[in-house]
Amino acid sequence: MVFHWLVALGIACQFLIIWTVDSLPKDAERPMINLHKSIGLTVLGLAIMRLLWRYANPPPAMPDDYRPWERLLAHAAHYSLYALIFLMPITGWIHDSAWKGAAANPLRLYGVIPWFRLGFIKDQDPATKQQIHDTFAQIHGALGWVLLALIALHVAGALKHQWLDRKPELQRMLPG
Ligand code: HEM
Repeated sequence: MVFHWLVALGIACQFLIIWTVDSLPKDAERPMINLHKSIGLTVLGLAIMRLLWRYANPPPAMPDDYRPWERLLAHAAHYSLYALIFLMPITGWIHDSAWKGAAANPLRLYGVIPWFRLGFIKDQDPATKQQIHDTFAQIHGALGWVLLALIALHVAGALKHQWLDRKPELQRMLPG
């Protein structure tokens, strides 16, 4: 539950930053993008911990009376969401590691903890890096839309069970 809500909060902040950054004063843009990178790398750490936790603590089974198509759709959405909480940070990190301004702008998590860029990307020649940078900007952005669509499906499914089917769905993700 804690991992679920921390990752949800992190992802909400990521979209909030991206959607508002262009309307901020020029000198606030770089710090906000740096914050986006810090939160994204934190989400990656949480995703790794979450997967390990889940492996050791399997979640409770779904209620018996959920229809097969609902189970299938829910499992498909959950697996895809797991994939994306890894793929979003990894594609962002690759994109950032290939940035030509990387050397002049070292990564620091939350402005404090020095962090590394991906060596095998950073060490490529400038033309290759530019290509990687551009390609992964596209991939990172496209996956962002896929993630948004999946979140919408996931939330709609949870609310359907909660409100239409009158199942204690949200309680599965709340303490007590
Ligand atoms: C959960 C993790 C993440 C989410 C949900 C996320 C989401 C997004 C989205 C939606 C965009 C806008 C793409 C577009 O306009 O085409 C974006 C841009 C960007 N992301 Fe991420 N991101 C994540 C992690 C990261 C990480 C870990 C890094 C780098 C270490 C990163 C670096 C960037 C950069 C540099 C941009 C371009 C910002 C700009 O200059 O406008 N992201 N991200």
